[in-house]
Amino acid sequence: MSSRTPTQRLHVACIMDGNGRWARRRGLPRTDGHTAGEEALAEVVRAASDRQVGWLTAFGFSTENWVRPRTEVRHILSLHRKLFSRTEEMNRNNARTRWIGRPFIEKGARTPVLVQKAITKAIADTSANTGLSVTIAFDYGSRAELVRASRQAMTKGVVTPASIQANLYDPEMPPVDLLVRTSGEARISNFMLWQIKGAHIYFTERPWPDFNRHEFDDALASLSSPAL
Ligand code: IPE
Ligand code: IPE
Ligand code: MG
Repeated sequence: MSSRTPTQRLHVACIMDGNGRWARRRGLPRTDGHTAGEEALAEVVRAASDRQVGWLTAFGFSTENWVRPRTEVRHILSLHRKLFSRTEEMNRNNARTRWIGRPFIEKGARTPVLVQKAITKAIADTSANTGLSVTIAFDYGSRAELVRASRQAMTKGVVTPASIQANLYDPEMPPVDLLVRTSGEARISNFMLWQIKGAHIYFTERPWPDFNRHEFDDALASLSSPAL
């Protein structure tokens, strides 16, 4: 990659899929796959920071994922508490934490109080950083986001692309340039349907826990590959 950092201000979004399959292949419980997935995310944050990417958004837990077995959900919740507490690492990377998902007070929202507190603290403790913005999508679903944005736009009587954009969970978030999905599924799974309008999509067979900085570079390189 050239020293002119062509990746600057890029928005890369990741659908981190395949934790369960990664664990199963090793004869481990699915929860171990999620733990390994958190480490993969930490490496991708460092890689994105090194490449001077502007925005990195990761799909941590969807509005659809609550139906998973209770022990798995509990494990994912505790991992997110941990993830949002990695402030020192975020500060070392000069990275800001952000979050998108169903607003805590909204009817139907399910983020538990302990995770809410971790999110609020992480955002406050990293707000002075000026580099990469790392957004975790937790209790996130794009349809819920768009229904809410449309309703809010309606209350002002103006429903346009601009008024919907202004009412998204994070209106400041720029459009996604590159969407990565791991583990061989070629699906979007209700992730940022509005924001990925013009995104390049990179699918890889690798499960998320094996996604590393080299894979991240390959994904970035796919952006500048000539069309087939
Ligand atoms: C992604 O891995 C993590 C979450 C959805 C929380 P999965 O848990 O979906 O892993 P697979 O798809 O079952 O392998
Ligand atoms: C998408 O993965 C959600 C996250 C990565 C958090 P899933 O594994 O839940 O997606 P589907 O169910 O296979 O579409
Ligand atoms: Mg999956």
